[in-house]
Amino acid sequence: MSVQELIEYFKREAEREEEYAKRLEDTASKSRNLMLKTLMKAVSLDSRKHAELYRALAAMLEKPSLVTEEESDAVLKEIERHIEEERSSIEELERLRKDERLKDNAPALFIIEMMLRDENFHHALLKRLHDSVVKPHTLTEKDLWEMLWRDALWHGTPGG
Ligand SMILES: [Fe+2]
Ligand SMILES: [Fe+2]
Repeated sequence: MSVQELIEYFKREAEREEEYAKRLEDTASKSRNLMLKTLMKAVSLDSRKHAELYRALAAMLEKPSLVTEEESDAVLKEIERHIEEERSSIEELERLRKDERLKDNAPALFIIEMMLRDENFHHALLKRLHDSVVKPHTLTEKDLWEMLWRDALWHGTPGG
């Protein structure tokens, strides 16, 4: 498969995820069960996210320089604040997870665990994004990206 074919494939996948998101949302809107309705909606939002990610895959193959573009100081400062925001969300959810009032409430605990998983990932992701643009480029571009992204998906909070 040529690179051009791969780009076309990513674009088709983006479309498929958008279409699927609509069908999930439709099912959610008909649902009467709050847990089912909410989680269907959540999966639908993830599907829209996947469409965006497929579009990014297509774009970075079309124009690789987009990925190494320098970032402004203003954006980096904002990312630092977002990292702190994710950290406080994690602390808040950790407290809720142990709340006596929610003890034995399996659906509530399921939603809290789900958010905790997301927030841990967001925190790690934002930290890596930030580091990847502020770390001095003493390593080769390839080494740097490998180092920064290798464990991003599996480790909640690298280095705190
Ligand atoms: Fe998906
Ligand atoms: Fe978050």
